[in-house]
Amino acid sequence: MSKKICPFYEKFLRNNLYLYSRNFYKQMKRILIIGAGGQIGSELTPYLRSIYGADNVVATDLRECPSLAQNGPFETLDALDAQALDAVVRRYNIDSVFNLVALLSAVGERNPQLAWQINMGALMNCLEVARQHKCALFTPSSIGAFGNSAPKNKTPQDTVMQPSTIYGVCKVTGELLSNYYAVRYGIDTRSVRFPGIISNVALPGGGTTDYAVEIFYEAVKSGKYTCAVPHDVYMDMIYMPDALRACVELMEADPTKLVHRNSFNIASMSFTPDILAAEIRRHIPDFAIDFDIDPVKEQIARSWPDMLDDTCAREEWGWKPEWDLSRMTSDMLSVLSQRLDNK
Ligand code: SER
Repeated sequence: MSKKICPFYEKFLRNNLYLYSRNFYKQMKRILIIGAGGQIGSELTPYLRSIYGADNVVATDLRECPSLAQNGPFETLDALDAQALDAVVRRYNIDSVFNLVALLSAVGERNPQLAWQINMGALMNCLEVARQHKCALFTPSSIGAFGNSAPKNKTPQDTVMQPSTIYGVCKVTGELLSNYYAVRYGIDTRSVRFPGIISNVALPGGGTTDYAVEIFYEAVKSGKYTCAVPHDVYMDMIYMPDALRACVELMEADPTKLVHRNSFNIASMSFTPDILAAEIRRHIPDFAIDFDIDPVKEQIARSWPDMLDDTCAREEWGWKPEWDLSRMTSDMLSVLSQRLDNK
C-alpha cells in the first residue's frame, strides 16, 4: 500500500528536487557579470538569474544599476581595479565570470588609447582572477575582429584577422590572450564573435551596428530615421534572445567537444539598412529612411564581414539561431510600440 504524503510537502519536494537536479548538471553555479549595466548585461543578468537562481548571479558595474540591484546581488565595481575584482570573486565564491566591459568600435576611434586601456585592462584582470580562483571566463568577441583582408561572404571561422579599428585590435588580442590562458594555465575561457546585437531594453552606445537598434525606436516614435551607415552595407546582426542563449549554451557545452574556444563565429541574419527599412515598412508603410553618412562608421562597416560562416559553432556546441529578420522586426516593433505608447 502506498503511503500518502501531505500535498504541501510533496510540492516542496518536487520543486526542490527539480531545482537541485537542474543546477546539479550545470557547469556554472556562482556567476559574476562585469559591466552588467550595458546593452548585453541588462538582459543577461535577469536571464542568468532565471536559470541559475537570483542569489547565484552577482551583477557589477561602474555605476549603480537600481533595476539589477533590486532582483539580486549587485556591487559597484571598476573592472580596472584588480584588487576590488578579486575581493568580489572571493566574497561570492564565484566560479564563472562574464566580462562585458568594452568601448565599442565607433567610440573607440575617438580615443584609441583609452579603448585599449579599458578593453584590455578589464580582460587582463578577468584572466588573472580566473587563473587565481579557477573560474571559467566568457568574454565576447565581435564581427569587428575581422578586417578588409578576410573574405566578406561566409567569413570562415579560421581566417586572416587584420582589423582596422582599435576595437578590433583589442578583440583579436583578447581572443589570442584568452586562448593562451586556456593552453598555458588550463583556464576555461570561451567566447563568441557577436554580430551587432538588436535589443529593446538598454541601448548600445558607440557601435557601428547601433543603427539597427535606433531605427526601431525612431520608426515607432516618428516614422522616420536618419541613418549614419550607407544604405547598401551588409553586416551580421543577432536578436538579443539568441545572443543570450548563445552565452549559456557555449558556457554549458561539453568542453571535450570544443575544438575552438576563443572565439566562435555565430550568425543568424545579415542585412543592409535598405533591407531593414523595407522590412519595417511591411508594418509601418509610411516609414521613411534617409542618410547622413558618418565617414568613420562607413569605413568601419565596409571593413567588416557581410556574413559569417558559423559551421564550427553549430558542430562543436550545437549553435542554432531561432530569430530571423522578419520575426525579429515584428517583435521589436510590437514591444517598442507597447512600451512607448504607455509613456
Ligand atoms: N556592435 C559592435 C559595434 O558596432 C560590434 O561588435 O561596435
